Amino acid sequence: TVYPDYFYSEKDFDKSHMGYKPLTIPAGVEAQPLAVPPLLAPDKVDGNDIYYTIEAQEGESQILPGKKTKTWGYNAPLLGQTLVVKTGQRVHVRLKNSLPVLTSFHWHGMEVPGPITDGGCHAPVYPGEEKDIEFTVKQPAALTWLHAHPCPSTAMQVWMGLAMGVVVTDDNEARLPIPKNYGVDEFPIILQDRTFHDNQLDYRADYDPMGVFGEVPLINGVVRPYVDVTTQKVRLLFLGGSDRREWRLHFENDLTMTQIGGDDSFLRHPIDVKKLLIGPGERQQVIVDFAGYKEGDVVSLYTDDFKLVEFRIHAFEKDDRELPFNIFTPDDPAVNSEAPVRHVTMDDHDKINGLRFSMERIDMKQTLNSVEYWDVTNTNNSASGMLHPFHIHGAHFLVVSRNGQKPNPNEINVYKDTIEVGPGETVRLKVYFQNAGVFMYHCHIIEHEDAGMMAQIQIVDPKDPDKTYKLMDMETI
Ligand code: C2O
Ligand code: CU
Ligand code: CU
Repeated sequence: TVYPDYFYSEKDFDKSHMGYKPLTIPAGVEAQPLAVPPLLAPDKVDGNDIYYTIEAQEGESQILPGKKTKTWGYNAPLLGQTLVVKTGQRVHVRLKNSLPVLTSFHWHGMEVPGPITDGGCHAPVYPGEEKDIEFTVKQPAALTWLHAHPCPSTAMQVWMGLAMGVVVTDDNEARLPIPKNYGVDEFPIILQDRTFHDNQLDYRADYDPMGVFGEVPLINGVVRPYVDVTTQKVRLLFLGGSDRREWRLHFENDLTMTQIGGDDSFLRHPIDVKKLLIGPGERQQVIVDFAGYKEGDVVSLYTDDFKLVEFRIHAFEKDDRELPFNIFTPDDPAVNSEAPVRHVTMDDHDKINGLRFSMERIDMKQTLNSVEYWDVTNTNNSASGMLHPFHIHGAHFLVVSRNGQKPNPNEINVYKDTIEVGPGETVRLKVYFQNAGVFMYHCHIIEHEDAGMMAQIQIVDPKDPDKTYKLMDMETI
């Protein structure tokens, strides 16, 4: 089967909502090669231990013709370098803040202890300061990411450019017959949108509590990118990096994408899709087979009817490798029968279970490794509501059902950490944490998160049940 449509109903798309902004390419912008973030080089490797420095910094980027844009990035003027870690590795990171404001370094999708290593609101790094963290990679191959997460200015800092890819690799990936030559036949595609004011970003000017749309698409920080295709098959690691915008991807000529992965793992079985919706915070991995094209052809990737990326076909060798039916075996642990189903509601644009976020309030507790159902409901009514991308820090989950029905084909048997929930919809998740600590869960429309559609859970290790965590408050931060 080839799935022909998005797995969401069109009336729930953002096009119908207040504040929607269509995309545009500013006059005078020529097509330019897609920027591929360089791989971050380690400071040191010592057996299984690997050491990195990640520096949040100010910079300037030539995004539009004319004046450069003031931007922020990690070891780069904008976005960052790609960090590649391997399952089982012990990773040591020196976090350095060279910005004029405090920031935090959140590992979205990485299963690391909270709240300090996780890098949410309780882990500020002040201007000029350095902090060291370390963690063991306990998860399978996937594209995760690092982004700023200081409360309540996550959205502004991500808008300025603080986001980078963190790729997890493992032995399973190494043996799969898939493109894996980074920058040649494997590309991270960070999807974002920004508005420019005389070539500068001005988050306050564009602020909208319902979520900020940018007018100009930025793919890996580039407007109007093209990719030179030199292999028959290309693997794309999509990352929904917008504050608010959903991306509704499809190729020209209805070219099929073979989806192989979601947020935090490969899919058990690859599936063929024509269309792919990617919400804020989500990742989806696909392989595109250009067998039907020849040197000189151009085939483009669109969001709705807007052209995002041109793929320029060059001569390539034949590649008839076939994917096995099974490409990943997810764990599917039994649900703790003593645990009641948890109910989480996303209300209006700024509340979880009726409350705005408080840094000093623990909203729920769950035991380490206890597998529990979370029923996550978007309480916006279906006449006027929008999709809310629900995200949990420090854990992956399995999607069990949507309104009691089967989940979408690309969210079955795959590890997720961010899931779109439609207006009036309840999505049942199986959630378990393999690290203790305090973790946030929230809507990933970043303005909703900053406004308070966020809460926190404490994961209790039965071996150390009385452990407490120092929670920051808005005053001291
Ligand atoms: Cu990308 Cu609190 O998360
Ligand atoms: Cu996160
Ligand atoms: Cu939301």
